[in-house]
Amino acid sequence: MPQSLNRIVVTAVGLLVLGVLVTLVLPAGDEALHRSSQEKKPLTALEERGRQVFLREGCWACHTEQVRAIEAGFAHIRQPGDIGAASEGGEYAARSPALLGARRRGPDLTRVGTRLSSKEWHVRHHQDPQAASTGSIMQPYGYLSQADLDALAAYMLSLK
Ligand code: HEC
Repeated sequence: MPQSLNRIVVTAVGLLVLGVLVTLVLPAGDEALHRSSQEKKPLTALEERGRQVFLREGCWACHTEQVRAIEAGFAHIRQPGDIGAASEGGEYAARSPALLGARRRGPDLTRVGTRLSSKEWHVRHHQDPQAASTGSIMQPYGYLSQADLDALAAYMLSLK
C-alpha cells in the first residue's frame, strides 16, 4: 500500500473514533439526557369526564395546555409567578389526546389549578364568565348540566 493511502486510512479511522467519542461516548455520561420528565398522575373518573367536556365544548380553541420555554409564553398571564416551569414531554404521557392547543385567546391552563383553586369559582366562571371575571370575552356555558359543570371544575383543579 502506498504511504499516502496509508495516511488517509489512518486519518479516516481517527476521525471516526473521534466522532463516536464526542457524539456517543461522552454524552452517555451526561445525567440530564437520562432524566425522564415527570409524568402526571392519571385522572380520576370525574376529572376524565371533565376533560371530555373540555374537548367536546372546544375550550382548547382558546386555551392552550403548554408552557413554552420562551419569555413570550409568560406575557399574557396575570400572575406570572404561578405559571410554573416549561412543560415537559412526560406531562402528556397519561393524556390522550394531548390538548396542547394552538392559539391563546384566553390564558394557558397548564397549571390553572394552582392559581385558581376554588371549585365554586370555576363553576360560576363557566356558567357566567363575565360575572366571575370582569370584561371576559369567554362565552357562558350555563347550558351544561350540573354534572358536566362539576366534572369540568374537577378537571380544571387537576391541572397542576
Ligand atoms: C372564545 C374563547 C374562549 C373559549 C371558547 C373558552 N375560553 Fe376560557 N377564557 C377565555 C378568556 C379570554 C379568558 C380570560 C378572561 C376570564 O377569566 O374569563 C378565559 C379564562 C378562563 C379561565 C381562567 C384562567 C385564568 O388563568 O384566569 C378558565 C379556567 C377557563 N377560561 C376555562 C375555560 C373552559 C373550561 C372552557 C370551555 C368550557 C373555556 N374556557 C372556553 C376565552 C375562552
